[in-house]
Amino acid sequence: MSELDIRKAVKERYAKIATSSEVECCGNDSGLISLGESVPTEASSVNAGCGSPLLLVSPREGDVVIDLGSGGGIDVFRASAKVGKKGRAIGIDATPEMIWRARETKSKYGSKYASAEFRLGEIEHMPIESGSADYVISNCVINLSPDKAAVFEEAFRVLKGGGTFAVADVTLPKEIPESARKDMDSWSACIAGALTDSGYKRLLTSAGFRNVEIEHVSDSNIGEYPFPYHSSHIKAWKPKAGPLKSR
Ligand SMILES: C[S@@+](CC[C@H](N)C(=O)[O-])C[C@H]1O[C@@H](n2cnc3c(N)ncnc32)[C@H](O)[C@@H]1O
Repeated sequence: MSELDIRKAVKERYAKIATSSEVECCGNDSGLISLGESVPTEASSVNAGCGSPLLLVSPREGDVVIDLGSGGGIDVFRASAKVGKKGRAIGIDATPEMIWRARETKSKYGSKYASAEFRLGEIEHMPIESGSADYVISNCVINLSPDKAAVFEEAFRVLKGGGTFAVADVTLPKEIPESARKDMDSWSACIAGALTDSGYKRLLTSAGFRNVEIEHVSDSNIGEYPFPYHSSHIKAWKPKAGPLKSR
């Protein structure tokens, strides 16, 4: 199973979800969030997250928030409402159909989400300037990446010194067999590509992050999967004087 096989399987699944009302991954976050603000129904109807990164941080007016794998845009619209017109809420997604859908939603709301922006791109190669973001958030996406070290290094690069990485993701309490890793359906459903908790900590720390915290939010199952896994909230911090890393 090559990196290309993974990217093709993931893109195929999310292009299908973007063009229908079907949501197969990763359940939804309705039981977890109560962020107290309204988001476009067009975005919540394609919500495929597994937690609520914006429960971990509180972006303020004027801040810059980058959402990795923004899908239909639910967390970008939430962030946009918080950072206001002076800030920026930028979603990155590798599936053109998701980007088109999110942009279409934005256009329906006139200037309400003026700071929301959607960029086509891979989170391993972010179309974002170095040292420009106050927050990097993400909701159930990093498990899908075939090169997670690159994602963490890119997140570190785009954050300002003192910036925060705050994501919801699936994590595993222990390694799953290699054969399970090769199941493309389970990978694109957000499970088979998940890191163990210790792997997450190790890769974030290698990328330069400090104060890595992982909280298990639930152990709810997505269908019948034979190995245990968690919906987790992960938070880490880029030191103020940290060197800018690049690949
Ligand atoms: C499970 S959905 C989550 C979408 C959104 N964060 C939400 O909470 O509804 C995963 C999204 O990540 C995108 N994605 C997967 N791998 C990616 C990658 N390597 N680079 C950029 N986007 C990716 C998919 O296209 C899809 O829109």
